[in-house]
This record gives sequence, structure tokens and C-alpha cells, in this order.
Amino acid sequence: MPTPVILDCDPGHDDALAILLAAANPAIDLLAITTVGGNQTVEKCTINARRICSVAGITGVPIATGAAEPLLGSLHIGEYVHGVSGLDGPAWGEPTVQASAEPAVDLIVRLLRDHPEPITLVPVGPLTNIALVLKTHPELIPKIREIVLMGGSIDRGNDTPYAEFNIKVDPEAADIVFRSAVKVTMCGLNVTHQALATPEVLDRFRALDTKLGDLCVELLTFFSASYLRTWGFTSPPLHDPVAVARVIDPSLVECIDAPVVIETMGRYTAGATCVDLHHLSGEPDNTLVAVKLDTERFWDLMIEAVASYA
Ligand code: BDR
Ligand code: CA
Repeated sequence: MPTPVILDCDPGHDDALAILLAAANPAIDLLAITTVGGNQTVEKCTINARRICSVAGITGVPIATGAAEPLLGSLHIGEYVHGVSGLDGPAWGEPTVQASAEPAVDLIVRLLRDHPEPITLVPVGPLTNIALVLKTHPELIPKIREIVLMGGSIDRGNDTPYAEFNIKVDPEAADIVFRSAVKVTMCGLNVTHQALATPEVLDRFRALDTKLGDLCVELLTFFSASYLRTWGFTSPPLHDPVAVARVIDPSLVECIDAPVVIETMGRYTAGATCVDLHHLSGEPDNTLVAVKLDTERFWDLMIEAVASYA
């Protein structure tokens, strides 16, 4: 039986490929795509989700717009990585797939309440929508099978020296999610940096010789320039699909149990994920922390997904 999943995202180049993977792989029953302000404003992220679904022909999955701002303060966007549109690179036409009128949090709540089985939430942007669901509807926590998220890091950050972007945008929301009773798997930078879109990977997308294969090359070429300019990476890491891959086949992403708490107050470190690898704090293990990616099988899965749109 495929796993029922809600993908909560802020497309975003790597989010776009996460959508393609989640919608294509038969191990996932994609119930909804919800958006959140992060890489760009939430309005732009919703347009981008509609764009990618339109180009790929993903028509049966509702797209709902979520939180425009973090729980506290104002939104800090990732334009320096994803461009003015949030999905710069390709020349986009007018999207044909429409967004739902139902707000994202309402849609998630309704699906959790009505779906016969517990649902896996896969947040790959800031955690604002998910925290709002947990806070406003604690009675639905047993209906969440698990949360498998992209965010945080065992090592250093990317948006600030110690904070990864998704957690940094809304540390209070992340704090709510990591302190919740739900099983949380954290796919942080330490593991997503093992998913590098090398020139060989780009060649594999190119060799598909399909509209979607070429689109992935265009997206990854823009993303590559951002990563070279900002962090000196010669190949960009494809963060968000790693969380989707963990849901599809847990053996692709090796995890360890550890206590994780979120730094919300630090003057220089707000948004850092404090991962107690050596159990020094006495805090209970609350997170499955991803440590190792089967890179080869990950790329096979990703290429296979994109090929299926031909
Ligand atoms: C995360 O931030 C965004 O730029 C990406 O979409 C990814 O979810 C990586 O830090
Ligand atoms: Ca993202």
C-alpha cells in the first residue's frame, strides 16, 4: 500500500524536484501539496507549485496556499538562492493547474481528520504550517504517522553560520515540531550535501531527452550558479527530495536516534539545530537524525521519477 503523504513546500528549485518525485513514485499516495513562505513569498511559491504541476501534468493533487509569515517576526526569503521568481532559470508559461481556495492549514486538518489512515507529513520548507496544525489541533496528532522533514544540520548552517535556512526562517515553529509527540525524522544539510547534482547527474537528466528532463537541467543549472556564487559548491545539493526518498524507501537514508532542540534565542545562532550526538544533555531522544545517503540509489530513484513523465 502506498504511504499517504502531504508535501509542504516552498518551491524553490529542489522543492520542484521533490514534487516530481513524490507525485511519480508508486510508494507514495500524494494527497496534497501545501505551500509556505520561505524561498520566496508564499504567493510566488504557490505559483511555482502550479507551474511545476502544469508542466508535468500533475492534475489530481490539490495545491493549497499556507502561511505567508513565520509565527514571529517577518519573512526572510531565499531570493539569493532561488531568484526573483523563486524558480528562476526556465521560461515559464501561464500555469494551467489552479490552486485550491482552501487554506493549507485547513486542508491539512481536513485530510488528517478524514483520511482512513494516519498521514506522513513531509515539510521541506519552514515549519510554520505544520506548527499551526499541531498547536490548533492537538487531537489530530495520532493521525500523523510521522514527520519526515528537510531542515537543520548536524554540522554548520547555510543561511547563517549555524542555522539551516528552513529552521532559521521560523525557529519557533521548528521548536513546536521538534518538541511535539510526533515521530520526527530530520534530513539536514549533513545528509543532503551527499546529494550533489554533479555534471554526470545533469547528463543523465539530459539523456532522458524529454521535456521534464530538460526542465530539470535548466533548474539545476540556475541552482548550480547560486551554489557556486554563495557557498563555493561546484555541484549543488538537491536537499528536499532526500526527505521524500526517505519516505519512499527508508533504507536509502540511514538515521540515528538523538535528542534535538532548536536554538530560538541565540543572538548569532537562532535557528540552529542542537543535535546531541553523544547524549550529553540528558534530554530524551526525540528525533531520527539522517546521517548517510545511498547516493547512487537516490539518483536512480530521482531519474526514474523524471523519466516517468515522458
Ligand atoms: C533548504 O532551504 C531551501 O533553500 C531549499 O529549498 C531547502 O529546503 C536548504 O537549506
Ligand atoms: Ca524547500
